[in-house]
Amino acid sequence: MFSRYKKTTEGAQPVKANKTPVAEAPRTAPVEEAQSVSLRKPLQKAAATTSPQDKDRKRKERLSEIKIELHRALLDNLNLGALESATEADLRAEIASIAGEALEERSIVLNREDRSTLTQDLYDEVRGLGPLEPLLKDDTVNDILVNGPQQVFVERAGRLELTDTTFKDEKHLLRIIDKIVSAVGRRVDESNPYVDARLQDGSRFNAMVPPVAVDGSLVSIRKFKKDKLGIDDLVNFGAFSEEMAAYLQAAVATRLNVIVSGGTGSGKTTTLNALSSFIDNAERILTIEDTAELQLQQIHVGRMESRPPNVEGKGEVSPRDCLKNALRMRPDRIIVGETRGEEVIDMLQAMNTGHDGSMTTIHANNPRDGISRLENMVAMAGIEMPLKAVRSQIASAVNLLVQASRLQDGSRRMTSITEITGMEGDVISMQEIFRFQRVGLSPDNKIIGHFTGTGVRSNFSERFRLWGYDLPPSIYEPVGE
Ligand SMILES: Nc1ncnc2c1ncn2[C@@H]1O[C@H](COP(=O)(O)OP(=O)(O)OP(=O)(O)O)[C@@H](O)[C@H]1O
Ligand SMILES: [Mg+2]
Repeated sequence: MFSRYKKTTEGAQPVKANKTPVAEAPRTAPVEEAQSVSLRKPLQKAAATTSPQDKDRKRKERLSEIKIELHRALLDNLNLGALESATEADLRAEIASIAGEALEERSIVLNREDRSTLTQDLYDEVRGLGPLEPLLKDDTVNDILVNGPQQVFVERAGRLELTDTTFKDEKHLLRIIDKIVSAVGRRVDESNPYVDARLQDGSRFNAMVPPVAVDGSLVSIRKFKKDKLGIDDLVNFGAFSEEMAAYLQAAVATRLNVIVSGGTGSGKTTTLNALSSFIDNAERILTIEDTAELQLQQIHVGRMESRPPNVEGKGEVSPRDCLKNALRMRPDRIIVGETRGEEVIDMLQAMNTGHDGSMTTIHANNPRDGISRLENMVAMAGIEMPLKAVRSQIASAVNLLVQASRLQDGSRRMTSITEITGMEGDVISMQEIFRFQRVGLSPDNKIIGHFTGTGVRSNFSERFRLWGYDLPPSIYEPVGE
């Protein structure tokens, strides 16, 4: 009946990600191919899968067609501006009644459940963020990734899944993006094609619109978790061991300077947040972030959020500005959400000059890489200093590198804890204290492994002892299989 609204994607199934062209390649030498294939593992199915039952999918499709039709009717017939200021109950009642009338007019009979889903979707459309709303409310979803109007992925438990959520068209998607960014006083259009913002609920939002985004707007949302994972949760999830937790507690409490390094979405912020729980309540902590994500439990916390320039290119408050100012605000500790630019200079200086126990995160794949990143950032900040001097600054500022990794099975683990012990000639010397030892892969592609000490005792053992954290030497011992 609503054929003109039928989606154009084949069979109206969501597009499968990573379609492998291999299967479509002309099979010229079947015998040889069969032999070579046997050496390889069978190609894995794309991580993105949809699992809705067929029936359920058809029902959803039908509802979505009706919704599109009714939404159009709503937009045509309603004064949306006036509705924005209506109370929730009024708006719901109004939408339910308009939807009821429209359904009757079109002789569509829906069961109670479908009718209430429809009303909720229409409500989300008018008041909320349309198709994104249910995903934002779903607590099992960590990230929402939109690749144009027809493809929405979510990340659950470290795995990406394709959802059956779609937008009507690019215009619809743009309208939702516009709604989000205008609510936070920003603008996105052809001349300002990307925006980074924080949603009202604290979620981190990034969008890029055409023509820079080639196949339709790209949106990524890192959902804000009200209950951040604490140390115990992370130990229970197998993100690190009890021994590592004890060591980290001693390290943070005795005011070592810590850098959490890791790739995108590897759990850096989560780790930083969890580590901060070891800070004493009596200390004054200042936090500086691009998007305020940290949730410190201490009493004495001052939070700062840096700000990009506005549409006219004015009003920027850079992380470095915040950091410089923070140093005048008598902090005991400074926590910088992520160090990615020239603020590295001030961060290293702060760590070297009486703000022991400061922490930050950087993007790097392993601890050695983390050090190079720091060196590069110093060089990019335009500081003319011999490399050896830069290294010795880093070596005396940073005590500990904690590596967060998102492994191939989607699990997030602390794969290394490494101490910086000083300089040997021109090179920064480091010693790994704990690491995650991989031993294999289970049949369902889960990584098998365990956390282990490396047998190297911490350089800070004496300091820990003097501060009342007398860790038994056994925690550093290697663990067998
Ligand atoms: N050990 C863990 N187990 C399960 N989920 C985790 C774990 N660590 C982090 N997460 C979840 O993974 C997501 C990404 O974590 P987080 O924001 O800490 O990563 P990040 O490295 O700071 O990312 P970005 O590079 O985008 O800043 C979050 O939703 C977080 O709740
Ligand atoms: Mg982060």
